[in-house]
Amino acid sequence: MGISGRRDQEIYDLIGIGFGPSNMSLAIALEEHGASAPQQQPVTSHFFERQPTFGWHRNMLLPSTTMQISFLKDLVTFRNPMSRFSFVSYLHAANRLVQFVNNQDFVPTRQEFHQYLEWVAAGLRDRVTYGAEVTAIRAVAEPGSRTADLLEIEVRGGDGATSVVTARNVAISTGLVPRLPEGVTGDDRVWHSSEFLSRFNAQAPDDLKSVMVVGAGQSAAEITRFFYDSLPHAEVSAVVPSYGYSVADDTPFVNQVFDPGAVDEYYFGTERGRDAFWRYHRNTNYSVVDSDVIRALYQRSYDEQVRGSRRLHFRNLTRVTGVKRAGSGTQVVLRSLLDDRTEELAVDALVFATGYDGLDPARLLGDFDQHFERDATGRHRVERDYRLVTASDLTCGVYVQGGTEHTHGLSSSLLSNMAVRSGEIADSIVLRRTEREMDRTYPVAEAPSAA
Ligand code: FDA
Ligand code: NAP
Repeated sequence: MGISGRRDQEIYDLIGIGFGPSNMSLAIALEEHGASAPQQQPVTSHFFERQPTFGWHRNMLLPSTTMQISFLKDLVTFRNPMSRFSFVSYLHAANRLVQFVNNQDFVPTRQEFHQYLEWVAAGLRDRVTYGAEVTAIRAVAEPGSRTADLLEIEVRGGDGATSVVTARNVAISTGLVPRLPEGVTGDDRVWHSSEFLSRFNAQAPDDLKSVMVVGAGQSAAEITRFFYDSLPHAEVSAVVPSYGYSVADDTPFVNQVFDPGAVDEYYFGTERGRDAFWRYHRNTNYSVVDSDVIRALYQRSYDEQVRGSRRLHFRNLTRVTGVKRAGSGTQVVLRSLLDDRTEELAVDALVFATGYDGLDPARLLGDFDQHFERDATGRHRVERDYRLVTASDLTCGVYVQGGTEHTHGLSSSLLSNMAVRSGEIADSIVLRRTEREMDRTYPVAEAPSAA
């Protein structure tokens, strides 16, 4: 489907916003639902992706980086191990299944997983328009209806032209939002990790004699290692807010927090139970690093001590409190947590690997957001089927994939539960459509008045 200035007449069952792993998985779940229930009307859907071609965190596709999950946590297997879109099917198509097994590794490289996702995206190309950014969503009533049962989705194409498509549901799956410390803005020498490779590749390596990475998460550790290995002449500094990098807990009992069953326990559990998930298991994902990367960095540091020359510096218990520009130079302001002293340093490139905020649907919903309920702390209320709870009698649905850590738990932004989640959303769309059709066919009879 192209983007034109005119209004598209078709009413879709679902428009998907973003075509990263979440909505790819949903597109497959809808296709496979149709195949398993040929007697039902197929769910009509289309997806919009603002990137010009498929890409999954391309700016962090650094050499030697690996996935943080098993290859079996692909887009489909936990929902349908027979799917033609499994990682194993991809390996077979790439003629590498035997070698993959010989390699005896559960965790592929990010590069290989990216190739898998590209292969899936190619198989779904008729369902997605690239270079198309959704800019707004609003509710409208179907002719003859008094409730807002349709959604209008405004889409801006690569050429700047805007079009509007209409749907009964949307799935907002627009991903994580890069976060910089308060008061810091980016430029060609101050980058967030999410833009790392494109910024790095735009520099002449000789101009990068002193580089600094801020943060103690996986992104920070990977970028520090990459800088050290690819800029042999440069001083590389890592600003670590903790005493040292902490390891990401991926041991088997703890890993159960990402199981599909944990979603129910989190969703239907008590507030105390949900707190316990976070108190005990935040270190599965946030501000932590895989042990192989920690060891690789320590090995480099130790080798320097043996050689007696140092260019890799760790500033632990330190936070960045500001960035100053002086002409073309960049000064970073560091505060030590040990003695509260601040110091300023000049750097040629400063990378903030300071994490992300979760998906926030309010950004796209604009004024329409007032129709959705919030909890006491101001967060969206979300049904178990990932549909935002409506405050009014809207019948159209807004589903979210991401931004549900407060309702569905730790796997909200991750791949772990994606296959199952997208199956649940597909089922919900079909079920609610059937209920709507039943309501139309058999309208509720008016209660007889008392004689
Ligand atoms: P994702 O961010 O992948 O996709 C969202 C898409 O929406 C993007 O393509 C974006 O361009 C598009 N978009 C945004 N706004 C739009 C708009 N208005 N209109 C149209 N399109 C729009 N998790 C895990 O379980 N295992 C792992 O190994 C990793 N590895 C990893 C590495 C790195 C570097 C990061 C930053 C994150 C991870 N993650 C991860 C977590 C990550 O969130 C997860 O792997 C998926 O990317 C989540 O997929 P989504 O489709 O939800 O978001
Ligand atoms: P993150 O885990 O949220 O880490 C952000 C880090 O920045 C934290 O250590 C934080 O410290 C620090 N920080 C924030 N503000 C700071 C400041 N002003 N000064 C110093 N430090 C500051 O973010 P991430 O590393 O980008 O990881 C995000 C997600 O992407 C995770 O799910 C991760 O697993 C994933 N990821 C995966 C891969 C892979 O698959 N290979 C690669 C990269 C990322 P505090 O906590 O103290 O604030």
